[in-house]
Amino acid sequence: MRTVRTLGLLGTGVIGGGWAARALHFGIDVLAADTKPEMENWIRAAVKNAEPALARLTFAPLPPQGTLSFTTDLHAMAQRVDFIQENIPEQLELKQRVLADVSRHAAPDVIIASSTSGLMPSDLQRDMVAPERLLVAHPFNPVYLLPLVELVAGKLTSPQTIESARCFYAYIGMHPLTLRHEVPGHLTDRLQEALWREILHLVNDGVASTGELDESIVYGPGLRWAAMGTNMIYHLAGGESGMRHMLAQFGPCLKWPWTKLEAPELSEQLIDRMVEGTQEQAGGRSIRSLERLRDDSLVAIQQVLRQYNIGAGATLKALEARLYADAAMRALSPAVPQELTRVDTCVRPEWVDYNGHMTDFRYLQVFGEAMDVLYRRVGVDEAYRLSGRMFYTADTQISYLAEAKVNEPLYATTHVLSVDHKRLKVLHHLHRGSDDKLIATGAQTHVHVNTEAGKASAMDEDLYQRVESLRAAQPEPVPI
Ligand SMILES: NC(=O)c1ccc[n+]([C@@H]2O[C@H](COP(=O)([O-])OP(=O)(O)OC[C@H]3O[C@@H](n4cnc5c(N)ncnc54)[C@H](O)[C@@H]3O)[C@@H](O)[C@H]2O)c1
Repeated sequence: MRTVRTLGLLGTGVIGGGWAARALHFGIDVLAADTKPEMENWIRAAVKNAEPALARLTFAPLPPQGTLSFTTDLHAMAQRVDFIQENIPEQLELKQRVLADVSRHAAPDVIIASSTSGLMPSDLQRDMVAPERLLVAHPFNPVYLLPLVELVAGKLTSPQTIESARCFYAYIGMHPLTLRHEVPGHLTDRLQEALWREILHLVNDGVASTGELDESIVYGPGLRWAAMGTNMIYHLAGGESGMRHMLAQFGPCLKWPWTKLEAPELSEQLIDRMVEGTQEQAGGRSIRSLERLRDDSLVAIQQVLRQYNIGAGATLKALEARLYADAAMRALSPAVPQELTRVDTCVRPEWVDYNGHMTDFRYLQVFGEAMDVLYRRVGVDEAYRLSGRMFYTADTQISYLAEAKVNEPLYATTHVLSVDHKRLKVLHHLHRGSDDKLIATGAQTHVHVNTEAGKASAMDEDLYQRVESLRAAQPEPVPI
């Protein structure tokens, strides 16, 4: 598979903007292409709008943010990128024509993925050059926060395309769900539409308002869906005999039936009820402010689910493990002298407080990343942690010496001051990358613990020797 350094976007509306924000956040450059030049401002604003919530999703160390460029020349975009995500309007003939055109300009190993909500990949790839590199990769709005992406192969799609796409989407923090067969509407939109059809009927028949129907989801099924989906929840609803009992008890009512298959006619009256109902629910709040509320809630939910390693929380946890491992690899690169442990970062926009410089707790975060690098250097990694041993921070003293402004590059080095079998004392130096100015120091004591017992415990002689050798090899810390 090509390493994806630059993602090309074809169409930069709601979904294109979401892809841009997600890819940039995880260090991928984006070249966005749209026929309308005014979409450049739009996509830049969309990325900016996504950043506050995205920034809070994880505190794991991120690679430097990608850069965003824009063009109205679709062919130039196709020639310069490693992977193309198509997000133009949902019209089959338009997508077929544009995909065929773009495929003539992109190298044959550049994967082309369509965000289509319901069109079939076999139809989309019909006129393309190298159609085996086309797949459907259907995301969910907001793309930058919802991890699900449905992957669908067409008749001509190669298994390698699906596998490479799966790796790329996982890399940018997503949960790829590969469908067994292409079907109109894929999986999720079929389920969503079934629910929406019933909502339209119930509003049309005057049974409930849009607000009451949203309450019926938000206070009940919606909460449990995020953790377990429908089938597992019904399995639990059947008591000790699970799904079998559930089907015996509630199966007969499927025949009545409660629900209707055909959507009601979208009459003016129904449209008015839907529009007026949702306006009343919005209560004068703008779409932008409701988006922020939705995004903050989505971040919070995923962080809670992470604690239980379930659903989207499990995806977040796996992403963080990869981000920590990548940061350690970057720091262990041959370019960095082995006796020094160093981490490179920059003052991300969300790290800056109302005084315009890096806020206090971010210094601690950078020192935490620096400490992780030191641990990796001496062999204290994920396997070590899973073996029931780790270091815990017992004490930190930070001295703030100079300001760090937004987007300034930073680097931190860590010296081992002393080590015995239970205690490790270190001194971090945080420097500005542009002129090497020392902007903070952090003195810390870390205690070796048995994590199951929750008590301090002596480290093995081998580990002690590795830390001691590192200490002996390090140069003296720069005097403050
Ligand atoms: N909106 C959603 O919730 C959602 C969710 C998942 C998937 N999708 C799918 O994503 C795709 C895009 O949806 P959207 O909501 O972002 O639409 P949108 O209308 O917001 O954006 C479409 C963009 O495509 C551009 N465009 C039109 N023709 C073009 C061309 N020939 N070349 C380049 N750009 C062109 C338009 O200028 C516009 O900026 C659709 O296939 C849709 O089914 C949408």
